[in-house]
Amino acid sequence: MTNYLFEWCGLLVLWLHIIAGIAWIGASFYFVWLDDHLEPPSGPEPVDPGVAGEVWAVHGGGFYRSRKYRVAPPTLPPTLHWFYWEAYTTWISGFLLLCLLYFRDAAVYLIDPAVMALSRPAAIGIALGVIVANWIVYDGLCRSPIGDKPKSLAVTIALMSVLDAWGLCHLFSGRGAFMIFGASLGTIMVANVLFVIIPGQRELVRATQEGRAVDPRPGLKGKQRSVHNTYFTLPVLFVMISGHFAMTYGARNNWLVLLAMSFAGACIRGWFVARHKPEGRRGLKAALPAVLAAVTLIGLIVALAPKDRSVAAQGAAAVPVLTGSRIEAIVHERCAPCHSARPSPKFGFAAAPDGIVFDTLSEFRARRSQVREMLATRTMPPGNVTGLTNKERAEILTWIARRGRS
Ligand code: HEC
Repeated sequence: MTNYLFEWCGLLVLWLHIIAGIAWIGASFYFVWLDDHLEPPSGPEPVDPGVAGEVWAVHGGGFYRSRKYRVAPPTLPPTLHWFYWEAYTTWISGFLLLCLLYFRDAAVYLIDPAVMALSRPAAIGIALGVIVANWIVYDGLCRSPIGDKPKSLAVTIALMSVLDAWGLCHLFSGRGAFMIFGASLGTIMVANVLFVIIPGQRELVRATQEGRAVDPRPGLKGKQRSVHNTYFTLPVLFVMISGHFAMTYGARNNWLVLLAMSFAGACIRGWFVARHKPEGRRGLKAALPAVLAAVTLIGLIVALAPKDRSVAAQGAAAVPVLTGSRIEAIVHERCAPCHSARPSPKFGFAAAPDGIVFDTLSEFRARRSQVREMLATRTMPPGNVTGLTNKERAEILTWIARRGRS
């Protein structure tokens, strides 16, 4: 019953997380787009000289006219809309999910004894430490003199990501490492909103209300963090869906895969941003990030292509005779505790994960190509919680290579 209720919690919180995330990133992408499409105000009526530009748009059956002020309007309107609960809700629900899945079921999602035999408290402590440390270092860098040099700052943040990806993939299971990497970036994004962007805007509003000269610096600092957030978005979203693609987190050099996908994601976002700008809509230079992203993705697709023959050959040499009942026994012991119509309560699943049931050999045979990927990448059993031996792994792979006969 508890596992069943936890599964509902997982579903509802994930639902909330996705909805809040869409609202947050949707608004954030919209405002980046808006900024890059501003044009000098047109039309016969006189315009406030403080207006930097405006955008006309048609949507949902009507016309919209958005104007942006260089710093602030002379007087504030009675109603001013703010955007921050979307970001905070995304973080709060994301953190709950982290606790509900990756921390509650750390042996399945976070720890892989073949990578490092961490205890559950150690794994959780390190994960939280990494998330907090990333924010402290990143924020410190932005506030340091490096923070005034966008190029040096970008290079330093990139180096920090390399260190993170490498370190995490040498501490946790592939899935866990990817998730902590994404959670760290996501936390930086939300902390940027909470600690820099919103306080900067509050100062802007206060100064305007009090009729003081408005200091543009907090606004500029906020803009810098917004720009970072826009480039972090696609890498974070990749991590959120990577759990469905074992070929990425289960790869031998999974930290390089994580970095390559993050780089491609940042480039794709860079391409969109460049295309928004008036010069980018025409020039070829705007296409450079798209080319970089495409080259990286193609390189990755080639590098990760399955090398079936070697796996099957290794297995075939090691295990000469295989019977269906032998495979059935392995699967019953190592996979069915989770993948069953009635999973063992030990691992916290109320129903078979992904609806994949291996109670009979024919169910197992029907999914053999998926199973081959899971076993070759050592993704299953997660964290090897059921202690599948190398010999048993090779036995199943060989049986599959022989097309699951017998
Ligand atoms: C501790 C529980 C557990 C054990 C034991 C386990 N699995 Fe899984 N398995 C999972 C979970 C959780 C998922 C879902 C992963 C996801 O949703 O991304 C999964 C998913 C899968 C998938 C589908 C993955 C995909 O994305 O295509 C396959 C295939 C699979 N497991 C095979 C196996 C095999 C084969 C074994 C035994 C050698 C095994 N599993 C043992 C928990 C387990």
